[in-house]
Amino acid sequence: MTHSVSSEMRGDIAVIWIDNPPVNALSFHVRQGIVEELEKAQTQAKAAVLAGRGGTFIAGADIREFGKPIIEPGLPTVLEAVEASAIPLVAAIEGNTLGGGLETALACHYRISSAKAKLGLPEVKLGLLPGAGGTQRLPRLLNDLGDAITIVSSGNPITGSKALEIGLVDGVSEIAVEAAIELAEKVAGQPFEGRCLSKVELTMTAPIKATFDAAEIEVAKRARGAIAPLRALQSVRAAYELPFVDGIKQERAGFVDLVATDQSKALRHIFFAERQSAKPPVNVAGTPRKISRIGILGAGTMGGGIAMTYAEAGFPVTMLEMSEAALDKGFATMEANWSRGIRSGRITAEGVAERMARLSRTTRFEDLGDCDLIIEAVFETMDVKREVFQKLDKVAKQGAILATNTSYLDINEIAAQTSRPEDVLGMHYFSPANIMPLLEIVWADKTADDVLLSALDMAKKTRKTPAISRVGHGFIGNRMLTPYLRQANLLILEGASPEQVDKALTDFGWAMGPISVSDLAGLDIGYKSRKDQDLDDHEKHVYLVADRLVEAGNLGQKSGSGFYEYDPKTRARSENPAATKIIEEVRAELGINTRAIGDEEIVERTMFALANEGAHVLGEGVAQRASDIDVVYNHGYGYPRWRGGPMFYASTVGLPKLAERLVEWSNGSSSQHWNPSDLLMTLAEQGKNFGDFDQEN
Ligand code: CAA
Repeated sequence: MTHSVSSEMRGDIAVIWIDNPPVNALSFHVRQGIVEELEKAQTQAKAAVLAGRGGTFIAGADIREFGKPIIEPGLPTVLEAVEASAIPLVAAIEGNTLGGGLETALACHYRISSAKAKLGLPEVKLGLLPGAGGTQRLPRLLNDLGDAITIVSSGNPITGSKALEIGLVDGVSEIAVEAAIELAEKVAGQPFEGRCLSKVELTMTAPIKATFDAAEIEVAKRARGAIAPLRALQSVRAAYELPFVDGIKQERAGFVDLVATDQSKALRHIFFAERQSAKPPVNVAGTPRKISRIGILGAGTMGGGIAMTYAEAGFPVTMLEMSEAALDKGFATMEANWSRGIRSGRITAEGVAERMARLSRTTRFEDLGDCDLIIEAVFETMDVKREVFQKLDKVAKQGAILATNTSYLDINEIAAQTSRPEDVLGMHYFSPANIMPLLEIVWADKTADDVLLSALDMAKKTRKTPAISRVGHGFIGNRMLTPYLRQANLLILEGASPEQVDKALTDFGWAMGPISVSDLAGLDIGYKSRKDQDLDDHEKHVYLVADRLVEAGNLGQKSGSGFYEYDPKTRARSENPAATKIIEEVRAELGINTRAIGDEEIVERTMFALANEGAHVLGEGVAQRASDIDVVYNHGYGYPRWRGGPMFYASTVGLPKLAERLVEWSNGSSSQHWNPSDLLMTLAEQGKNFGDFDQEN
């Protein structure tokens, strides 16, 4: 008997307990323990219940063991033994029953679940397919093939109640283990061969084939380059085409194949990176401050989105604006945004009213006096921020946290406007703030430990993914955007079309290409910021096309045209002839001999520029870990999750290759636009990658 699996007798029923905190993952000792306890139960009990301690059944395989040699018994062996048990087994499903956990439940003969349990096969989210019978047993159990297809290919969990509805469990009960024991007593001594899912025969028919054909097209489209969802779906299809023994072999081979792919490595990397970025930095100690009421300055797009985030999480929010008219507008927008969800069933009218009731409004700074956390989302200039923080300093109660949502400005300077810089930090949200998961927390020089911990705590309470940045122009995310966008603009000057640049990068997996993003954000934003800066000629030339577009009234989507033209009704984009003309004029004016540019060059130049700037950010200590940078780009910028993030991607390409290209470009004709990072060059020379840097620091 191993420590993490034990059993007790309840009359004639053996209850086998899995106890492997925090999530009861199926680590080697758990698998071994299940086999041992099962053997014991065969002689001592008439039936057995498999249950998990700590309110959770089993959250799946131990992800940390992936990629290492499997120590027997592997999960397929364990589940063979489970299904072949001489006594019936009932799974008592509570909490997270995911991946190998659900596969274990499927190998049992009966299943009882709590209503709120989460059941799912999330393997595709880790770039895998369920490798221990999930794709073979699930379609043999469910009433409707469509449900099996959705569960396997989306990776999204369902509740116990839903599981009952679709035939995945035999009953739902508040205390699953007690109901499971009752059921075990009832079925003890009864024949149960018909409950072994491997014995169920499936036949491929023309309608089933048509269902798979249609699903494959849909899944491939939604996957945007991720390979696992389609492979997992094809494994379900194999359940109809092959006998169980062969189907399970094919499924296992698919799992072994996928686990070795860069995609799966990248997705596992980002899974752990997200958990790591939410942890306090070493040497930061204390407890978060108590936060009950939130104050928000500014009811525009950002302020409104931030207010929605907190109201959705149940916090009362006071919103401050300069005028009643601005408040009216902001409140109407928030209500309209929430109300859009009524038609799709995401929220009820009462739900919208409840959230609106959490929002109160004012035009007087004094009314923020009872707020515990005040987030400023006003106009992005230092003069305005200075004034706002001086005023906040006068009205905020002692111990209140004063946060700025600035995207670029120096937070140390903002903090210095107050008599309490230790209470000031950055909480940088991404638009639309109520939807985008990233919260970049900016840790200023004087920010107190418990203020930083409070921001991490609020990220958790509002279901955001945090990443900590130190102060520096543009912090992590926006700073890295500059060299990325610079290369995208240069590629257009050198001969690529806006469509080609965007397509190469959406083919790479980005949610949107950089040129479409610029049009969406508004070309006038970059234009104004460039006018405020003292740029050299090289830098001015990079954005000459964008500047001319703005000067001719093409501001992007909002004006109906930018680099592209937009259909006023559908917003569908097409080539903008005015932009094509401007591009040609600028190329001629700058004396550029255009050339055909390959997609590979577009990807290399933009992605290497991004990783190189990330390496600068890391080398300067603005980011603590390369994996935090990956989190920022995944959650804030639509970077393809299955590539892991800009830094992980660089490691998969190989830092020596990156270093070689950076040297080549920085010695080439556009040398002024390249500044290879010392850290990157050193790691490349030492044969190390960013992951090694993270581990050593
Ligand atoms: N293996 C190893 N460690 C795991 C793990 C797993 N399957 N699931 C969670 N953990 C770890 C986390 O890394 C975290 O560790 P730290 O505290 O050291 O950071 C800890 O457990 C707690 O996890 P969370 O912070 O995520 O806790 P939560 O309560 O917010 O979420 C959860 C719990 C929903 C189970 C979430 O952790 C999760 O989604 N886990 C992954 C589940 C999964 O993908 N399972 C399928 C695995 S693949 C498989 O099973 C293949 C197969 O067919 C054999």
